[in-house]
Amino acid sequence: MSIQKRLVGSYFVVILITVSILEFLLIVLVNYYYFHNVERILMNQAELSASFFHQYAADEDVEKQSERLLNGFSHNSAAQVQIISLNGQLLQDSTGLPASDRMNEYPDVQEACNGKIGIWKGTEPTTKEAVLAVSYPLQTNHTTVGVVRFVTSLTETAKTVNQVSAIFIAVGLFVIAIVAVLGIVLSRTITSSITELKSAAEKMAEGDFSVRANKRYEDELGALADTLNTMAAKILQNEQLKNDFISSVSHELRTPLTSIKGWVVTLSATEENDRHMLKDGLEIIETETDRLTRLVDELLDFAKLDNGRIALWLTPVHLQGLLQHIGKQLAPRAARQRISLEVHADDSLPVIQADENRLKQVLINLIDNSLKFTGPQGSIKVYAHSELHQVIITVEDTGSGIDEQDLANVFQKFYKGNIHAAGSGLGLSISEQIIKLHHGQVKISSKVGRGTKVEIYLPR
Ligand SMILES: Nc1ncnc2c1ncn2[C@@H]1O[C@H](COP(=O)(O)OP(=O)(O)OP(=O)(O)O)[C@@H](O)[C@H]1O
Ligand SMILES: [Mg+2]
Repeated sequence: MSIQKRLVGSYFVVILITVSILEFLLIVLVNYYYFHNVERILMNQAELSASFFHQYAADEDVEKQSERLLNGFSHNSAAQVQIISLNGQLLQDSTGLPASDRMNEYPDVQEACNGKIGIWKGTEPTTKEAVLAVSYPLQTNHTTVGVVRFVTSLTETAKTVNQVSAIFIAVGLFVIAIVAVLGIVLSRTITSSITELKSAAEKMAEGDFSVRANKRYEDELGALADTLNTMAAKILQNEQLKNDFISSVSHELRTPLTSIKGWVVTLSATEENDRHMLKDGLEIIETETDRLTRLVDELLDFAKLDNGRIALWLTPVHLQGLLQHIGKQLAPRAARQRISLEVHADDSLPVIQADENRLKQVLINLIDNSLKFTGPQGSIKVYAHSELHQVIITVEDTGSGIDEQDLANVFQKFYKGNIHAAGSGLGLSISEQIIKLHHGQVKISSKVGRGTKVEIYLPR
């Protein structure tokens, strides 16, 4: 069942129940009000007549004076007035009905004969009309001597009650109709948003991430539209990153391969005794092969880190020794690029629990970046200091710096400040993951043209 049907349906049921209960109450009240009113009027008139008799005619014979009494009683009443003797004989009737001696078959008359007030609502057998009758005893010195009976037809009252009820029911139906129409219109505003979202989501599911869900209102559905759009944008961005990555990796692979191929061709054409040429060529082939191996290693590492499949091999690591070793390893490259590489590591540095090879990989990544993005005459400083709970290792260079927009993204996988630059854009991302595995964190700050500073925080 569609949401619209469910919404309108439940709305409708609630209103239907409410209106029905209200209608029922109103109709019961109207009934009570009208019929009670008629009864009260008859009661009043009967009571008035009885007390009149009691005061002014108590010592008169009811049977003999009945005509005069009737005139007095019916004077102010539109109802039918009857005077009945104790044995049930109809003495007088304001409508001039033929005399009857079976009046005490009516329950109200029986009551009045016994000195009580009788009320009876029923169908008059002769006219088949709904009537209300009130009988009052006529008393002399506390003994009942006769009965005065007021009878009125209820047909008019019933008609009025029916009319009023009909009006109520009509109003009720009108309200229900309006509510139903409003419900359909309102629910359509909700369901149309949902339908739109659904069609946008379906297009996305089919792979079209350029569609955007239309946000109509600032509500939950609006938030859902936003989420869908953000998701599509993220997927597009990832798609873009993936494409950039593939092209940069292919480029990275191609360069060393071209160089290797070139040297192999050259060497195979070289005189066998040209030892010098042979040595140069083989050296270049070796470095290029190393470069390829490093790239492939990085990619493998990255895949493992990304799947969370890497486990650290924790051993006590002498930070001083580690930093100095890395310094020595990279010194020739720094010298070749005419960059001063200073490593400050004194013996106050603590021994920490860490995965030595991974930590080395991180530091080489960082220094490699600095070497890549720092020109000749620049300088790179690597230093560390320990605090109570943590060790901070810093790699600082005077290189090109990173502009603000890029700074927020450099830790993203495959992100490169310049897509044409060498590298896969994985170095910082891998480094960050490794430090996180050590429960530490990496912070980077940079100024374009001034240099970059990367800090590694490791818990002791
Ligand atoms: N020291 C730095 N100076 C200037 N820019 C830097 C520095 N370190 C990182 N960057 C910027 O951050 C980007 C991402 O660095 P990252 O190490 O992740 O990738 P990469 O060096 O391009 O590739 P890889 O390290 O995988 O060979 C770099 O492309 C560069 O734009
Ligand atoms: Mg790098």
